[in-house]
Amino acid sequence: MAPPSRRHLLQIEGMDRPEIGALLDLAESYVLLNRTGKTPRDLLRGRTLINLFFEDSTRTRTSFELAGKRLGADVLNMSVSTSSVNKGETLLDTAATLNAMHCDLLVVRHDQSGAPHLLAQKVEASVVNAGDGTHEHPTQALLDALTIRRRRGRIEGLTVAICGDVMHSRVARSNIHLLLAMGASVRVVGPPTLLPSAVERLGVEVFHDMASGLAGVDVVMMLRLQKERMAKGLVPSAREFFRFFGLDKAKLAAAAPHALVMHPGPMNRGVEIASDVADDPLRSVIREQVEMGVAMRMAVLDRLTRAALANA
Ligand code: NCD
Repeated sequence: MAPPSRRHLLQIEGMDRPEIGALLDLAESYVLLNRTGKTPRDLLRGRTLINLFFEDSTRTRTSFELAGKRLGADVLNMSVSTSSVNKGETLLDTAATLNAMHCDLLVVRHDQSGAPHLLAQKVEASVVNAGDGTHEHPTQALLDALTIRRRRGRIEGLTVAICGDVMHSRVARSNIHLLLAMGASVRVVGPPTLLPSAVERLGVEVFHDMASGLAGVDVVMMLRLQKERMAKGLVPSAREFFRFFGLDKAKLAAAAPHALVMHPGPMNRGVEIASDVADDPLRSVIREQVEMGVAMRMAVLDRLTRAALANA
């Protein structure tokens, strides 16, 4: 069980195996309820959830919206542009506004690492980090874990290769923490320019070519090239990147025959992944990841609401 005092979900780092396992179990029950259309619509009745997105999003925002609505919350979407304003000041102003509105759950995406942590200190609501800069994206790692566990029955003992632009990926960082906490082996695979320096200190194995990085793995997790966060010149060209690091059938052949192919979306087809692999129903679980996203976010909203009630 999660510690009852945990009011926010800001990062995976620091979460332990029982806490992650309990969230996965709860999400599992929501998968079944979603499939039968029998979701309880009263848990969040009378509560307000605000989606505060300072960066673009399709899957994450809509799945939090659906998750909130399925549990009976009033859901508001706020998209904010950070282009012309002082970010610190805006965040604190926003916090004051949100407090005045008596919002219960605040889902935040921001291009600055640490922004949700700052908001969590200033708002009365429970804060969920929906992706902060290059730092973490905890609900993505949780939904990825749910997808893997449902397909493989476990996470412990599996080998997962996280491939491509690890340097700029909050998805990679959250997944590394979660998979290691759950007892998986993690490899990162990419050109040196796209791997964080000293990444092996996190406890992962580092590979610079797909053939050895993918050899025998159970899960291949591809990442989007995050061009918006990238200094110029880290990747010579999309075509060259695909040739060496894009996942196609030939490179996938190095993985275990049952290996799952994952991608958090949005995908750059033909850059980090070939369409025939992304759309292969026998290997790709990319659509299932989206389904698991709704169930996982319901579990997170459920857990945080109960924790807030217990602390009230
Ligand atoms: C990811 C993100 O925003 O970090 N997308 C997502 O939430 N599914 C990955 C990405 O943008 O590449």
